[in-house]
Amino acid sequence: MTITVVVPTFNEGPNVAELVRRLAVALANRDAEILFVDDSSDDTPAEIERAAAVAPLPVRMIHRDTPTGGLSGAVVEGLRVATGEWVVVMDGDLQHPPELVPVLVARGQDLSLDMVVASRYLHGGDAGGLDGRWRRWASTASSLLARSMFPVRLRNVTDPMTGFFAVRRAALDLDALRPRGFKILLEILTRNRMVVGEEPFVFGERFAGASKATLVTGLRYIEQLASLRFGRMSRFAIIGGFGAVANLAIMWLLVHPMHVNYVVAAVVAAVVTIITNFALQERFVFRDLRNEGRGFWNRFAHSFAFNGTEAAVRLPFLVWIVEATGLHAVLVQAVTLVVAFLLRFVFHAQVVYKP
Ligand code: GDD
Ligand code: MN
Repeated sequence: MTITVVVPTFNEGPNVAELVRRLAVALANRDAEILFVDDSSDDTPAEIERAAAVAPLPVRMIHRDTPTGGLSGAVVEGLRVATGEWVVVMDGDLQHPPELVPVLVARGQDLSLDMVVASRYLHGGDAGGLDGRWRRWASTASSLLARSMFPVRLRNVTDPMTGFFAVRRAALDLDALRPRGFKILLEILTRNRMVVGEEPFVFGERFAGASKATLVTGLRYIEQLASLRFGRMSRFAIIGGFGAVANLAIMWLLVHPMHVNYVVAAVVAAVVTIITNFALQERFVFRDLRNEGRGFWNRFAHSFAFNGTEAAVRLPFLVWIVEATGLHAVLVQAVTLVVAFLLRFVFHAQVVYKP
C-alpha cells in the first residue's frame, strides 16, 4: 500500500459519504486506502460502512469503544494500524481539501522528505474556515508561541497547529508520543526528528455539523506545552525570575545604604538587570542560535531596545488599564507581567535570535 488516509471522526455522519467520494476521485488509480478512526456516539459507524460498501477503494474503520487521548489519540491509533508507506492525516469535515492528498505525498516523495505539512499560513494558503475572529487570533498566537519555544524543530513549519499533513510511516517513533487534545502534529514534530516540507492550502468551511473544539481543548493545549517542558521558555522564565530578584536587590542597596533617589535607583536597577539578563540568555537560552542570524551587538541592541521600552511603557500602561477598567491594580499588574513576559519571549525567539 502506498497511501493510507487516516481520518479521525467524532459524530461526523453527514460528512462521511461526501469525503469518501471526493477522496476516491482524488486517489483514482492510486494504491490507496482510507482508515477511519471513530469515537462517535451516533450513527457515524453505520454511515462509514455504507460509504465503504460503494467506494472504489478500500475503506476500513476502527471504532474505539473506550476512546483515549481524544483527537490526537485517535490519530496515533490510525498511524499504528496504517499500512501505507505514506500516511495522510486529515479531518472528516471537508475543511481539508481531499484533492490535496496526492499532492502532499508527491511532494514528500519528490523531495525525499519525512513529512509534508499542509499550511494555512504559507503564501497561497488561508485560514478562512476558522470560525470567528477569536479562534483565528488564538490560532496565530498559539502558533507563534510554539514556534518560539521550539525554534529549531519548528523552523520550517509555519503552521504547527494544522490537522492536515502527510508523513512517511517509517520515519515515525509512535512510542515517543504522549497524545492528548487536538495538536497531534506539534506532538510529532517536537518528539520525533523529521525532515519537513510545507504546502499551502485553504482551510475551508465545514461541509456539515459544528466544530468539536471546546474550552477544554484549549486547556489541553497548555497541558501539552507543559508536558513538552515548555522548551526553552522555562529557561527564559528562570532567568527572568532571577532578574526580577536582582532588580529589587539593586534598588534596595541604592536607596537604603547609599541614599540614591528612588527613580534614579529604579532606572539603574533596570539597566543593570537588562544587561545581565541578556548575558545569561545568550549563554543559557539561545546558545545554539547565536551564530545563525544577527551579530552580537545587533542582538544586544534589539534586546536592550525591547526590554527598555517594555520596562518604560509598563507603568503608564498599568495606570491606563486600571483607570479604564476599574479592576484591582495588583490583578492588572499580574496579568501585565505575564503578557509582558510572553511578548518578551516571542520577540527574542522571533526577532533577536532569528536565524
Ligand atoms: N476519533 C476522534 N476522537 N475524532 C475526533 C475527536 C475525538 O475525540 N475530536 C474531534 N475529532 C475529529 C472530528 O470529527 C473531525 O473530523 C476532526 O477531528 C477535526 O475536528 P473539528 O471539530 O472539525 O476541529 P476544528 O475544525 O475545530 O479544528 C481543526 O483545525 C485546527 C486548526 O485550527 C483540527 O484539524 C485541529 O487539529 C486543528 O488544530
Ligand atoms: Mn473542523
